[in-house]
Amino acid sequence: MRRLPPVLIEDGCSRELLSLIRTILAACKEISFRVGQGALSGVLGSTLDENIQGETQKKLDVLSNQLLKDILLESGYVKAIASEEEDYTVAGNPDAEYIVAFDPLDGSSNTDINSLVGTIFSIMRAPKDSDPADERIFMQPGHQQVAAGYVLYGPCTTLALTIGKGTRIFTLDKTHGSFMLTQEFAKIPEDTKEFAINASNQRHWQPAMQNYVNDLLAGDTGPRGKNFNMRWIAAMVGDVHRVLCRGGLFTYPADTKDPNKPFKLRLLYEANPMALLVEQAGGMAHTGDARILDIDPQEIHQRVSVILGSKNEVEACLAYHK
Ligand code: AHG
Ligand code: MN
Ligand code: MN
Repeated sequence: MRRLPPVLIEDGCSRELLSLIRTILAACKEISFRVGQGALSGVLGSTLDENIQGETQKKLDVLSNQLLKDILLESGYVKAIASEEEDYTVAGNPDAEYIVAFDPLDGSSNTDINSLVGTIFSIMRAPKDSDPADERIFMQPGHQQVAAGYVLYGPCTTLALTIGKGTRIFTLDKTHGSFMLTQEFAKIPEDTKEFAINASNQRHWQPAMQNYVNDLLAGDTGPRGKNFNMRWIAAMVGDVHRVLCRGGLFTYPADTKDPNKPFKLRLLYEANPMALLVEQAGGMAHTGDARILDIDPQEIHQRVSVILGSKNEVEACLAYHK
């Protein structure tokens, strides 16, 4: 079994990028340890604070953010960072080549119930001669990401990573702290009988999504002519991992529940990195209107609708949106 560094070097990953990825993973190993300690390390429960998006921060959101932020800024490998838990971008080393956007802890409603959580990250190149304090350096479409990945803190800790040459899965060997390659190339099956959506929002969806899901639920007596199964982990990182492992469709569509918040998932540190991982594994990632990786971001916490997974099923869903 091979360790992560030689695998990435073989793929043509530069020393600088490899060092940056290893820096992110060093923080993730510590998050993995803290998540694994659960109540023993006093990290469960909420803080009294909200992030800029009006969401109450869990203690583990704050801790994970601090770990990633400190280790990245200390390393000198990043020009700037953007995080779900930071109001604004934070400037780093002006001479560094890369910028990183991250969701320090995805699925934070799962922290207190010992269920799946993870860290999602997106690495882009900083424009030449740019100002590290200028947020606009993050306004790049997702297809410009040089690397994207997530670390899933589950029964085992797994890493899904792409540097644009396929999506690979690594498993953290906790006996010596190395991420070991456990799946050479993830390949999402083109067809599926599984979908993931928070069905409690059904009455707030647009007609296209209502119609699509109704037809899935109609099963083999409906227009799709087959029965579908449903899963919902409430952590995108867990749902996308299942899609990478065995296919499926995952969506968090637009809804009218809160008129000020038509979409839930954030483009820079949720939708974009997941879209790259999924496309690199042969799947598709779309908003219903556009390919996610082609969107020009307007602001760092921008939200989008997400429909991703098995290619033929995403296309079937998009047919309802035409
Ligand atoms: P986060 O914990 O980083 O705020 O993200 C949670 C996101 C995503 O991971 C998940 O798919 C979705 O929110 C769950 O939403 P519901 O609570 O509506 O199920
Ligand atoms: Mn998240
Ligand atoms: Mn989060």
